[in-house]
Amino acid sequence: MSHSHYKPDTQSITGGHDPAEHQGSLKPPIYETSTFVFETAEDAKSYFKSVYALDESAPKEAAGYIYSRLDSPNLKPAEHRLAMWEGAEDALIFNSGMSAISTVMLEFLRPGDTLLYSAPLYGGTETLIKKVVAPLNVETRSFGPADTADDIAVDERVALVYVETPSNPTNDLFDLEIAASIAKGCGAPLAVDNTFLSPIGQQPLAHGADISIHSATKYLGGHSDLTAGAVAASADLIDSLRHLRYRIGTTASPQTGWLLARSMETLRLRVDRQTENATKLAAYLDEHPKVAEVRHLSLLNPGDPGFDIYKRQCLSPGAMISFALEGGEPEVFRFLNEMDIIQLSVSLGGTESLASHPWSTTHSTVSPDDKRALGIGPGLVRFSVGIEDSGDLTNDLEKALTAV
Ligand SMILES: Cc1ncc(COP(=O)(O)O)c(C=O)c1O
Repeated sequence: MSHSHYKPDTQSITGGHDPAEHQGSLKPPIYETSTFVFETAEDAKSYFKSVYALDESAPKEAAGYIYSRLDSPNLKPAEHRLAMWEGAEDALIFNSGMSAISTVMLEFLRPGDTLLYSAPLYGGTETLIKKVVAPLNVETRSFGPADTADDIAVDERVALVYVETPSNPTNDLFDLEIAASIAKGCGAPLAVDNTFLSPIGQQPLAHGADISIHSATKYLGGHSDLTAGAVAASADLIDSLRHLRYRIGTTASPQTGWLLARSMETLRLRVDRQTENATKLAAYLDEHPKVAEVRHLSLLNPGDPGFDIYKRQCLSPGAMISFALEGGEPEVFRFLNEMDIIQLSVSLGGTESLASHPWSTTHSTVSPDDKRALGIGPGLVRFSVGIEDSGDLTNDLEKALTAV
């Protein structure tokens, strides 16, 4: 059953699952098995040929399932739905955002190559680059949101351009068309971490990116009850990444794939509501005397850095706010300790509102000088807005700000 001619909101309900292939089950059953039985020894031989690319003529994906570390039927609906939302030919689900990012870096980077990346980045990605990628004799070079194409040093050794936009936690925007032209000039792919906006708010492939990456733990999963990662790209790139996923075992479990497909049915509903709430709360915070600065894409005005990029590249402002309190860590701690409905936790993108202090948590591995240079001061709060009542959330912010 192909529903590919339907609109994304329709396909996200039924896409990637055909009841006729599952005894009429309306919803995908969970294949909670580590291994699969082959009908014949010949099938086993031919599946292995595909998976381990033993001969060039073998199809790139096995015609059947072998073992759940390699692939599982429960990953297919979520992969189908993500590819559809991202406007990509295909997609892959991984067992965490970091494993999706690591797999992409491992696919393209070799000793002697250069990785060009935007800064700031999610702290875990920054640590991966500094502690794992750089020691493999890969030169790692960053550029900031204020750098123009002329400021970014490039050469033929650049093997991957990696951009996170909007950046975690500052909501800085990077121009994907400029990044794509830099990557193209070096013959390198452009990979974009699209976690913060989700495909509802930004579709990087439409702006020249080759790969869109997600921590699916966030908006794609949307309920803070799973960890997963995802990549959307052309069929050829996905085939190569799938083979690397087979080899290094960064595949998501059947249960995770199942939960993710279920969650993606409501992706637009959740993200739209979260975005609406965030836009109201950003306006409230922007007027508050105890708040020094608010960063939410809805607050960008003509002439602001990032405004033109926002208008060209983003479909909506998303639900991630960062704001700085007058003062520093003591004021932020008083604020966080006083919240009631908004919970003190470091993840984002779920139905519930969460706030955290990047300086002492998600970005604690980045040096204080680097954090300050990147706009992550000790007074900064990261706020992931949920789907609760916006009046209740405003009252909670007011209560916590009164304690500062
Ligand atoms: C922007 C961004 N990318 C990647 C990751 C890593 O994802 P995961 O925690 O699912 O490994 C995170 C996690 O917070 C993130 O915020």
